[in-house]
Amino acid sequence: MARFLVTGAAGFIGSHLVEALRAAGHDVVGVDRRPGADVVGDLLTLDLAPLLDGVEYVVHLAGQPGVRESWSQFPAYLAGNLQTTQRLLESLRDRPLKKFVLASTSSVYGEVPMPAREDGPAMPVSPYGLTKLAAEKLCDLYGRTAGIPWVALRYFTVYGPRQRPDMAFSRWFNAALDGEPIQIYGDGSQLRDFTYVADAVTATQRAALNPVVGVPINVGGGSAVTVREAIRLIAAITGRPIRIRQLPPAPGDMRETRADTERLWREVGFRPSTPLEEGLWQQYRWHLAQRA
Ligand code: NAD
Ligand code: UGA
Repeated sequence: MARFLVTGAAGFIGSHLVEALRAAGHDVVGVDRRPGADVVGDLLTLDLAPLLDGVEYVVHLAGQPGVRESWSQFPAYLAGNLQTTQRLLESLRDRPLKKFVLASTSSVYGEVPMPAREDGPAMPVSPYGLTKLAAEKLCDLYGRTAGIPWVALRYFTVYGPRQRPDMAFSRWFNAALDGEPIQIYGDGSQLRDFTYVADAVTATQRAALNPVVGVPINVGGGSAVTVREAIRLIAAITGRPIRIRQLPPAPGDMRETRADTERLWREVGFRPSTPLEEGLWQQYRWHLAQRA
């Protein structure tokens, strides 16, 4: 049993992580600026010292997610992804921390050869990806100069119950259930290594507790499909005819994301395995329950 602080605890991935850690018997305090966490407050202004007393593991999921908004909302990305991270790391100086786990992203890669490896190039094509890559570098800086043990988990497009409403599957299930057209950016041939949320949570829990430190680690679902293939599955699951409205490609969207998960397997001893169709059924049931 260990003591965790989880930031972003009221969010999509955070709410699942808190449940899983508590189910495993850990002592967890969740913080978020939205209601739904044990401590409600903004990490940019909260007094962090009392929150960190006795904490062995910090999982920093709070941040400003979403690729496509990051051109127009850059200050929110700087604050959410960089300033919160720096403020936490600074407050962790000289504390007996066992691990700081940063939520990073496949968006750090950009248009590099896939499957992407953590020791290969990272050349973001969105401001979002850039702020997350910079947050990884901040962890590395505090690791080298202040001895803070860290890992950065590069999550690849996570989905499942409670997925953020701005993300593709949420929008598409809602559109299908409302009889509205599904919007796709570009021709739908872009590829995503979709990752089921329970797998992302297991990887996170194990990466915190295992000895690995000082590196980024890919967390990819292992079922890379095109947007069009994903929509075919959604049509089959909902049993509804789906109309598609094609929009121009979205600036900052990568053509392809595919994770090399050798490091995850070697250092963390786990690899996501939930088949996309099974995870999509879980998400669909959640949307139905929300509407009931
Ligand atoms: P989310 O928006 O559901 O959760 C993030 C939470 O952080 C929100 O509840 C928000 O209120 C909170 N937050 C943001 N800024 C804060 C602040 N200053 N103080 C306190 N709380 C703050 O997002 P998510 O999809 O659960 O993603 C969690 C993390 O994982 C994010 O950092 C995101 O960038 C990263 N990530 C997500 C995905 C994905 O596919 N969902 C993929 C890669 C990386
Ligand atoms: C997701 C998350 O939103 C980011 O927070 C995260 O960091 C990122 O994954 C990542 O893995 O790095 P994204 O892949 O854009 O970003 O996730 P979705 O919103 O689920 O989009 C998946 C694909 O569907 C993208 O190619 C997007 O262009 C497309 N899409 C999305 C549409 O065609 N139509 C939509 O209405 C929404």
